[in-house]
Amino acid sequence: MNDVAHFAVCREPFYQPQGKEIELYEAAYAARLPVMLKGPTGCGKSRFVEYMAWKLGRPLISVACNEDMTAADLVGRYLLDANGTRWQDGPLTVAARLGAICYLDEIVEARQDTLVVIHPLTDHRRMLPLDKKGEQVAAHPDFQLVISYNPGYQSLVKDLKQSTKQRFSAFQFDYPEASLEARIVCAETSIAQATAEQLVTFAQAGRRLKGHGLDEGISTRLIVYAASLIARGVSPADACRMAMVRPITDDADVIDSLDHAITAIFG
Ligand SMILES: Nc1ncnc2c1ncn2[C@@H]1O[C@H](COP(=O)(O)OP(=O)(O)O)[C@@H](O)[C@H]1O
Ligand SMILES: [Mg+2]
Repeated sequence: MNDVAHFAVCREPFYQPQGKEIELYEAAYAARLPVMLKGPTGCGKSRFVEYMAWKLGRPLISVACNEDMTAADLVGRYLLDANGTRWQDGPLTVAARLGAICYLDEIVEARQDTLVVIHPLTDHRRMLPLDKKGEQVAAHPDFQLVISYNPGYQSLVKDLKQSTKQRFSAFQFDYPEASLEARIVCAETSIAQATAEQLVTFAQAGRRLKGHGLDEGISTRLIVYAASLIARGVSPADACRMAMVRPITDDADVIDSLDHAITAIFG
């Protein structure tokens, strides 16, 4: 399973650039700099890294980080089988050996003691020590580490340490500007342009409640969800309520004001 082809991004992912991020990423990759993608959930970070892996022709190994994740989940562990014990590389080790792009999604979810394993990979050493196995893996020349990070809802305890942050170059992502966001929604779901524009107008109204009852804005991902319901015959108002309002809040006042905005936009 651990061959390059298994992790190849075979089809070109649809990616709508927001600025110079494609050329800047190419430069970062050419310099083999680790990359951090910052921004709110659902604004295109993961899609961007998939697109860049495809464009650069590199395999992509993604890991969704969580607080139960241990260093062994990333680097590997000994497994017991009928013949005794057998070492199994974790996804980070597989990526370092193969020369893949390793994408650690939502990195702050991981505990600090787990995160230190990336340090020797992200400086001039480009090494991954497998302490339990007594092996030092020298990263393949094509290997690159990419992390995503949502500074929005971070508590201080969950923030990344400077010693981790200062190993990365970084891209700040945000929701696309209105006309680009409508274009993305049309490309993803093929709903009518005018409806996509109305959905974006509603999302932008909702985003203004961030800090006034909402922790996070309504994501591009949720607009695409609403559009995919509309494409299946659901009315725009129902689709907005179901995909863009109900998931993001339990606050009756916020729900009320969002529902009013839906009526104002869609009638
Ligand atoms: N620039 C973009 N180009 C194409 N699709 C996008 C873009 N930004 C957001 N999307 C859409 O939004 C969805 C969520 O984006 P994703 O990359 O998963 O967000 P996250 O920032 O949480 O990683 C994607 O599945 C895609 O439909
Ligand atoms: Mg993501």
